[in-house]
Amino acid sequence: MKRVRKKSTALFCLILSYTLSSVAEPQKAAIASAHPLATEAGFEILAHGGNAFDAAVAVSAALAVVEPASSGLGGGGFWLLHRAKDGFEVVLDGREKAPLAANAAMYLDEQGNVIPDLSKNGALAAGIPGMPAAIVHLAAKYGRLPLSQSLQPALRYAHNGFAIGARYQRLLQSRLQVVAQNSEAARIFLDNANVPASGFLLKQPDLAHTLEKLAESGAAGFYQGEVAKKLVSGVQAAGGIWTLQDLARYQVVERQPISGNYRGIKITSVPSPSSGGIVLLETLTILAGYELEKLTPTTQIHLITEAMRRAYHDRAFYLGDSDFVKIPVKRLLSADYAAGLRSTIRMDKALPSAALRGELTADTPGTDTTHFSIIDSVGNRVAATLSVNFPFGSGVVVKGTGVILNDEMDDFVSNVGQMNGYGLVGSAANAIAPEKRMLSSMTPTFVEDKTRVGILGTPGGSRIISMVLLGILDFAKHHSPQSWVAVPRFHHQYLPDVIEHEAGCFSPETLQVLTALGHQFKQTDTPYGDMQAIELNKQTGQLSAASDPRGEGLADVR
Ligand code: GLY
Repeated sequence: MKRVRKKSTALFCLILSYTLSSVAEPQKAAIASAHPLATEAGFEILAHGGNAFDAAVAVSAALAVVEPASSGLGGGGFWLLHRAKDGFEVVLDGREKAPLAANAAMYLDEQGNVIPDLSKNGALAAGIPGMPAAIVHLAAKYGRLPLSQSLQPALRYAHNGFAIGARYQRLLQSRLQVVAQNSEAARIFLDNANVPASGFLLKQPDLAHTLEKLAESGAAGFYQGEVAKKLVSGVQAAGGIWTLQDLARYQVVERQPISGNYRGIKITSVPSPSSGGIVLLETLTILAGYELEKLTPTTQIHLITEAMRRAYHDRAFYLGDSDFVKIPVKRLLSADYAAGLRSTIRMDKALPSAALRGELTADTPGTDTTHFSIIDSVGNRVAATLSVNFPFGSGVVVKGTGVILNDEMDDFVSNVGQMNGYGLVGSAANAIAPEKRMLSSMTPTFVEDKTRVGILGTPGGSRIISMVLLGILDFAKHHSPQSWVAVPRFHHQYLPDVIEHEAGCFSPETLQVLTALGHQFKQTDTPYGDMQAIELNKQTGQLSAASDPRGEGLADVR
């Protein structure tokens, strides 16, 4: 009898876990990216027999060509992968590294003050790129097609050109002075020293040549030989500190994704050196103690803000590259720690950030970076967020390569306690050191409940994490991806002590109630973010994909 009960219990558990984990094959594929040509590049590679990982190579490379403001071979990113056949999940960390000659004081003057813009504009702002190594690795280890095939759409776009649109114009306008200072960047991206008119055909033959080298020789085509020599001499001539050794030593790292639960939803995201997964999960763990849906919308905003404030506070004080510093991840994400933080949240009053620690105020700039989401017909998934940091990175293109250098060095803390370009403060955990990866906010994420799988992410600097959070809270309401990407956005990052929000995000009554609780507000000049999302119905295999209405992307199911 006992044996029978044991057997039937085991069978029940097996059936239950099968029901929870079983996912119908989608049969079709979905791609959502920030540019129609990048989405088309992904579908083209799927049509040639590639899987989601080959498509991700094609989309990454295509975005490097058609969205030069946002990502590129001179930048880096994080690719979160799910392999359908065995459920294996991994993060490819292609984050940039500080050059070997970098040091903690490299952006300070003799008095120890940060030299304005030195970590944002010009070659000294550039970390050692990770994107080329990551896409080579992605193709070789997870793809089915040769890299030379997956890079074909990007090569075509770079050779033949593409018509620039309003987003390109807007982002270029925001960095016009910086781009204009570099003759090579100005030659490629401007039209007679001006922002080109809409429809201007942007051709990038030098970038095509660099892509060809990558296609021919893999990582060595970028990190060694002709391209590497051009990059190093170009960087050094422009005041940077890269060496051939820096490039030769760059390695992509496979990291275990970070995961947690929010009221029956499994969240899988990226670990350090991105703060994205940790801050996202810490915020959600605090919020899991409330039944948000039973509270008024205003109370929900108050609690979400207070949770963000506390998690971004921990970001500032604990987070950096975990290969260099010990991060108390387990503690930060524990239910007990969240309960402790929750006990400091009052329903009738906002906690001034200064009461947590620090007294700075700062401003935050707009959007940059890019994100895409992919699922193929058998259920392989990719969520990838890629960046050159500020629009058009450091504003420097190395002659003969077409490669825009990133300015990710600004994501380090140049001076402990002083804010970076996103108004973020930080501790010694994120101080500059040779070969260290700078702390990121990129948050490519999977969410999953009993009936649905979601794939999402967005650009937007420090606001990336709060945008993904709001998208997940919308997923929790069983809304569609079209709703996750459109949800009105607000953000609190501990310092500055304000709720940043899009126009129209709050009604006058809501603002009044929240102001009475002690919150302060700053409306952003423009809407922000460019979320790309996909949902799979686990029971039917049906797919739905959405591209942020604020951007110019294309999401499709084919
Ligand atoms: N460069 C933006 C980020 O990594 O968060």
